[in-house]
Amino acid sequence: MKFVPFFLLAVCAFAADVTGNWVVSQPMNDGTVRKTYFNLKLEGSQASGNIRTGQFNYSVKEITGGPDGYTIQAGLMDGHSERKATYEAKLVGDELHITTRGRNGAPGPEMIAHRAPEGEGAYPKPVPPPALHKVPDNGLVRTPPMGWNSWNKFHGRVDDAAVRGMADAMASNGMKEAGYLYVNIDDTWEGERDAQGNIQSNKKFPDMKALADYVHSKGLKLGIYSSPGPNTCAGYEGSYEHELQDAKTYAAWGIDYLKYDWCSARNLYTDEEMQAVYQKMGDALRAAGRPIVYSLCQYGRADVWKWGPEVGGNLWRTTGDISDRWQSMSGIGFDKQLELTPYARPGHWNDPDMLEIGNGGMSDDEYRTHMSLWSILAAPLLAGNDLRDMSQSIKDILENHEVIAIDQDKLGKEGHRVSKEGDQEIWVRDLAGGAKAVGLFNRGADAAKISVKWADIGEKAPKKVRDLWAHQDVPSHGAEYSATVPSHGVILLRVGK
Ligand code: GLA
Repeated sequence: MKFVPFFLLAVCAFAADVTGNWVVSQPMNDGTVRKTYFNLKLEGSQASGNIRTGQFNYSVKEITGGPDGYTIQAGLMDGHSERKATYEAKLVGDELHITTRGRNGAPGPEMIAHRAPEGEGAYPKPVPPPALHKVPDNGLVRTPPMGWNSWNKFHGRVDDAAVRGMADAMASNGMKEAGYLYVNIDDTWEGERDAQGNIQSNKKFPDMKALADYVHSKGLKLGIYSSPGPNTCAGYEGSYEHELQDAKTYAAWGIDYLKYDWCSARNLYTDEEMQAVYQKMGDALRAAGRPIVYSLCQYGRADVWKWGPEVGGNLWRTTGDISDRWQSMSGIGFDKQLELTPYARPGHWNDPDMLEIGNGGMSDDEYRTHMSLWSILAAPLLAGNDLRDMSQSIKDILENHEVIAIDQDKLGKEGHRVSKEGDQEIWVRDLAGGAKAVGLFNRGADAAKISVKWADIGEKAPKKVRDLWAHQDVPSHGAEYSATVPSHGVILLRVGK
């Protein structure tokens, strides 16, 4: 036998050890098992493979280190930018102990990986997207949808009892009378597929059909959530390669609304292919034969407002996720919708994301701004708080019938900004019958006087001017209206007829 230096032997043995398909199995309290796959290959200094974790499928770029531990660098293309991930891993007997290195360098909790058969957890290949055609309008939501969604407040903690509780509350606390109709379950309801590939709900939702029946018995409608990719954003089962089957399941359960979230579809398709991918579910919902509102959630990429209606979409998210902070809400509402006004129309709405009103991170003035701005934007009003437990002031905001009437105006024309002077902005929305909603917004840190000249908004001498938060008419004579607006607050007027 030829002499092989000892250090080379050591390197070869080391390399062979980390190479392989590793799986981390994490039982969840909803009865599902979260699997993360590390498919690693190290030949000499050449690293390859992929890491499949939740909604992400990273390509392995580099594996470095020695017997004391490896550093694994991985990345994926997300739209037009690269998302990177770094892991530290060490072999301990037959196991690979792995920690994520966060952006700030701090390690995450340790994961224990075991060897899995080659091919298990392999990422599916992209099915070529269909040719484009126009999906006929489903005729739903001629005014922006109103209801509730579980994500902002509950994230993964939503279950059957919470949804029933929300339906009970909505039906009895004035929300239903105010127009709120859809009770929407967001991510984390999904279980595994059965032997025929039918999607099942997980332990948190023992019987989806019974839940739909219950919600319907309250005169309300039930919504659900999925992804065109293999996994949802929270890592649950998506609808990839099961689009029609899932649409039929939703129809059989009695589902009335689907939020369809791009998430892991990013691993298979480019932004340019998005329209065709969304069209597939638009067709599937139509084929399933039940009227189901189709909500596109892909964070406003690929100019979705230009093609949303073509794929049968009733609403489309215009930005990334909202959070319960003034910076987030005001940035989305004031700054990111400016160019999108022309695209909203009955049945097809820009969606600046769900409401945070009542979640505790903003003041009542800020929540009144949130409600007023969303109404001027003809945005969906999907409450995101716990409806079972609302203070009177939050109820007064969410259930303000006069403000809701602006949102639900039949003309279906989105409002726009007509002036901006520093932190003070005036927004106007044209309403059916010739009236106008006028919002005087103060984004500044101090109270400020804001004046609107009627001539500047195309009014001569309005017959009637009403303050929709004060619930009273205000003097309409003269050429303008002036008011002191609190910091981060709003005066919302209905002007004209
Ligand atoms: C994305 C969406 C959110 C929510 C979560 C659920 O982040 O934009 O609105 O649906 O996924 O995982």
